[in-house]
Parts: sequence; structure tokens; C-alpha cells
Amino acid sequence: MAYFCNMNILILGTGAREHVFAWKISQSPLCTKLYIASGNAGTAQYGTNINISPTDFESIKVFCIEKNIELVIPGNEDPLVLGITDYLEKEIKNIKVAGPSKKGAQLEGSKDFAKEFMIKHNIPTARFSTFTKSTINQAYQFLETLNAPYVLKADGLAAGKGVLICGSLEEAKKNLYEMLENNKFGKASEKVVIEEFLTGIELSCFALTDGKNYVLLPEAKDYKRIGEGDTGLNTGGMGAVSPVPFANKTFMYKVVNKIIKPTIAGIKKDKLNYKGFIFFGLINYMGEPYVIEYNARMGDPETEVVIPRVENDLVELLLASCTKSLDKCKIKIKKEYATTVFTVSGGYPEEYKKGMEITGFEYLKDCIPFHAGTQESDGKIVTSGGRVIAFTALDNSLLDALLKSYKAAHTITFQGKYYRTDIGKDLLDYL
Ligand code: AMP
Ligand code: GLY
Repeated sequence: MAYFCNMNILILGTGAREHVFAWKISQSPLCTKLYIASGNAGTAQYGTNINISPTDFESIKVFCIEKNIELVIPGNEDPLVLGITDYLEKEIKNIKVAGPSKKGAQLEGSKDFAKEFMIKHNIPTARFSTFTKSTINQAYQFLETLNAPYVLKADGLAAGKGVLICGSLEEAKKNLYEMLENNKFGKASEKVVIEEFLTGIELSCFALTDGKNYVLLPEAKDYKRIGEGDTGLNTGGMGAVSPVPFANKTFMYKVVNKIIKPTIAGIKKDKLNYKGFIFFGLINYMGEPYVIEYNARMGDPETEVVIPRVENDLVELLLASCTKSLDKCKIKIKKEYATTVFTVSGGYPEEYKKGMEITGFEYLKDCIPFHAGTQESDGKIVTSGGRVIAFTALDNSLLDALLKSYKAAHTITFQGKYYRTDIGKDLLDYL
């Protein structure tokens, strides 16, 4: 790939996922200068943080021209759903953006669009119907045909908070009213998808596609709730494990043939102009994979365990995704387990303090710390968000990888530090 030498690269985002990208990309001989908008204290170790918001398209364009950026990697969904790919590719000749078009990103940006896509392409998903304010009475009737618990989804992006699982019909009707009539999630809940509840264990799968070909990345399981045993409030993710022991050959064969291949074929058929990552949020419902959601990006904290297992040069893969040549790439995956444990600020996901000094980095070993809510202040590293640092470790044994992640989470100190102590514990039973 000599043609692509001396390339300046810009990553968009501020979290641990973007720290992983920066860490991995800095290892590529194809990358000359790396910038992160706006990054954190972790990304600053691998490139230059710039103070531009990932949704400030105009400033991103000006920066890309000034610094001769050739590849842009959007980390989070907001810029993708707002159309960063179409915008930059129209405004700057020859720039490559490793993400889907605005239309393609609707697979994440609109739950209704995603469900219609799945129905059209015969991809297994929960039974559903979509409603607006003017059809609220039909929505109540539809709820009456379902059994508890009831799943209500705001159609648009709602910062991960737009899905409500309601225990009773009364609660479901009340929330539906709040969403449709009282704009509970603003514009995002002008439409609401109501769907059947599926019981099963969840799994995150990932592909990198050029719209026609794809490479399958390692699967992962994330732990979303704040409390031990998956209890309490939802968070941005408290830890993750890859590979996932219950995702055996038989199950993954079904995932590939019933979900991944039909999705990529559907993307091509519907001309969604899709490149970059696609995230399949799946549930194992009675031994069969069903799609719970699509995301137009990598997952967080899944990236912290998926990318460290990928042996390939990530820049090479992303360029192949942008130039429709992924058929020429062969993905190489480490056999080892990767685990990550997130340390978070006390109180998160509700109120928490910021600006707490983080110490103990010099004692860390056998792990890679990926920063999320951290920043530098007067030569110190301090907390700046709810999720602070994820500690990733690799080992041939799942238990030993977990022990390394836990040792690191224990070693680092900051006031109010909290982490779950049961990440991956459920998976040990499958070994
Ligand atoms: P989503 O934002 O669509 O991923 O939904 C958030 C979470 O809600 C998922 O990770 C699941 O835990 C849960 N969920 C969503 N849809 C369903 C469903 N149909 N059945 C059971 N759980 C669901
Ligand atoms: N871990 C789930 C997500 O990134 O949406």
C-alpha cells in the first residue's frame, strides 16, 4: 500500500473507543500525523488533541484542509447520523471518511428505519410496530396484544437512554404518552417503536464493510448496568469480554448467515452507500440470533477488547473499506481473551464529581489503560467524566485476563473510584 504512505489521520470522539483507535493507529507505518478531536489525556499520548467538537463540521473541514488530513475516522454516532461523511467527501477532494453516509447511518439514527430494513431483508428481529402522536390509540391497542415486559424505543438518537423496558401495561401506556405527547426525548420520540420483549443473553458482533465485502471482527459481550449481577441503572458500559464463550461455531454460523450476510447484501441492494464499521446488537433467543439494534460505529466498551485482538494494521483495513477493496484483506485475530474493566466516578451514572487526581499509573503492568473521562490539568491527570479509565488485559485464560484487568483497576486511585467486580464472571460457567 505504498501509495498511502505519509498519511495524516483525524479521529473524531473523546472516549475510550477513540483512545483504542489512537493506540492502534499509532502503531501503523501508514500514519504520519495523528489528531484527535477532541480526545482525552489518553489519546494525547499517541497524537495531538484538538479542541473541535465532532459535530462542528465546518471547523473539521477547515482543520482537514489546513493539516492535509487524508483519512477521518468518526468514533461516535452523532457526526455520522448528521452526515459528516457526505459533507467532508463533498467539500474536500480525495478525503476518505471511514464511516457510512447519512442514509446508511439511519440504521442507527432511526429505529423505525432499521426495523423496516430488517423486515425487507428478512433479518430476524422482534415483532414490532411504529407509532406517532396521531396513532397513539392504535399504539395502546398494540400494547394490549403484547405480554409484559413492554419495550418502547424512541425512534431517534437519545444518548443511549431512548429504550424503556416497562414492567406493566399501565407503566408502558404512561411512558408512551410521555414520549409521544410530552416529547420525553424531544424530537427523538416523535415516533416510537413498540416491540416484543425477547429473553436471552446479549452479544455484540462487528463487521468492517466497504458496502459490498466485509471482514468479521471479534465478537464481545458488554456489561451495561452499574451494579453487580447486572442490576441498577444503565451506563455507557462497565466492562467487556472477547471472545464470548457461548458464541460457539454453530451459533456464529447462524449469525453470519442469517444476519451479517443479509445485512451487507441489503445495504448494497438499497444503495445505502455504507462503509466503515457496523455493529450488530444481538440476542440469543432460544438458540437463534435476533437483531436488537444496529449501530453505525464500533461499540464502547467493546472496542477496548475487540481491537486489541485484531493483528492487522487498522489503517490498512480502514483504507480498504474506503476504497471498496476489503475482499483483498484477510483478518487476523489473536486467540487470546481480552477483558476490560471500567473504573468510574462515584455516583455515576447519576451525579458525580470531576477533577479528582488519578494516581498510580507507574505501578500498572500487564494491561493497557484506555482513557475516557480524563484530562490533563497542571501536569496531573484528573477525572473529567463518569466513565474514567478502562483497563484491558489479554491472556490465554479468561480468568487470568480478568485478574490482570482487576489488578489494574485496583492499582489506580482516584477519590470515589468504583468498578464492578463481576465482569466476565457469568462467562466462566461456559468454559
Ligand atoms: P437498544 O438501544 O435498542 O440496544 O436497547 C437497549 C437495551 O434494551 C438492549 O441492549 C437490550 O438489553 C434491551 N432491549 C432492547 N430491545 C429489546 C427486546 N426486544 N427484547 C429484550 N430486550 C431488549
Ligand atoms: N456498548 C454498546 C454501545 O456502544 O452502544
